[in-house]
Amino acid sequence: MTPPLTNIDLLPHNTLALPGHAARYLRVTEPAQLAVPELAGEKRFVLGGGSNLVLTGDFPGLVLHMAIPGKRLLKEDAEAWYVEAGAGENWHDFVQWTLAQGWPGLENLSLIPGTVGAAPIQNIGAYGLEVGERLHSVTAWNFEKQAFFEVHRSDCRFAYRDSVFKQEGWHVDGHIAIVSVVFRLPKAWQANCRYADVAQELDARGVAQPTARDIAEAVIAVRRRKLPDPAVTPNAGSFFHNPVVAAEIADALKVAHPTLPCYPQPDGRVKLAAGWLIEQAGWKGKALGPVGMYEKQALVLVNRGGATGADVKRTMAAVQADVQQRFGVALTPEPIFL
Ligand code: EPU
Repeated sequence: MTPPLTNIDLLPHNTLALPGHAARYLRVTEPAQLAVPELAGEKRFVLGGGSNLVLTGDFPGLVLHMAIPGKRLLKEDAEAWYVEAGAGENWHDFVQWTLAQGWPGLENLSLIPGTVGAAPIQNIGAYGLEVGERLHSVTAWNFEKQAFFEVHRSDCRFAYRDSVFKQEGWHVDGHIAIVSVVFRLPKAWQANCRYADVAQELDARGVAQPTARDIAEAVIAVRRRKLPDPAVTPNAGSFFHNPVVAAEIADALKVAHPTLPCYPQPDGRVKLAAGWLIEQAGWKGKALGPVGMYEKQALVLVNRGGATGADVKRTMAAVQADVQQRFGVALTPEPIFL
């Protein structure tokens, strides 16, 4: 078994391009590498694509970089295709591969950065779809119990940018590592293009009866237009959750600010557009030192060059304070802080 490397630079492993070193680092390309009793006693962090991560400095423990490959059709029945992928597969490439095989269902999630193994953790979502809606089960390794186990979708507790894997004792504190994911892609496919940006893009392309491929192309075009490419402008996607507030609070805000975008939720509460709040608070395109909010999408925090985790925290706190003061709404960050 290859031993972990020491003192590894993590800047290339986080899309905000923040500096920091891992005391120990192991690239995991097969599940058996996890089944080593010595790993159980170590302080660990399980890393995927690093696209939802704020690195605040050096990490004194072991970084397990999940790079397990593989994708295949596991089974097929009258209703659905069941497709399995290794945790280390690139999410976007995997989605495009399923489409090329003729298995639609994940097209709305095209171009989301990160890996297959990270997708269930914050229940990635975009343009009217969350991954939990297409997920069948997750296989993971439990370091304490020294065993692989399977979590069925019904036990994943999927919610808006949330799942059981974000709970204490699960993924982010290094108790478990997701090694593979099975998706259930129903054969009774229906285009999901109600999200305004996607509908407008399809309209502009003159597509009235979109295929899954058409939707993927539209989503890719919208994302390229609005969101910065981490390879050019380091970022971690949306930096804050869209806040979900009680209906009375949303109603009062709407009276004072009639253009505030509000999305009623099934539980009666209302989701507010954080990007709108941040823009109105004057932060769109504004920076504090090397860290600012993106000029085309105020919800995306960007590293303008040479930023540290401390710089990110400073801008984050300033944005939170201004939105709180102006609207009385608390913004919570989406990424994990290490
Ligand atoms: N808005 C503004 N100003 C801005 C940004 C947005 O007024 O600077 C307004 C828009 O005009 C729109 C509303 O806010 O009325 C929502 O904006 P948008 O459609 O761009 O989506 P979002 O709520 O900002 C969410 C997800 C994205 C996902 C998009 C599309 C969260 C935290 N973010 O963003 O996910 O791609 O919807 O579904 O839920 C991510 O999580 O990293 C991510 C990119």
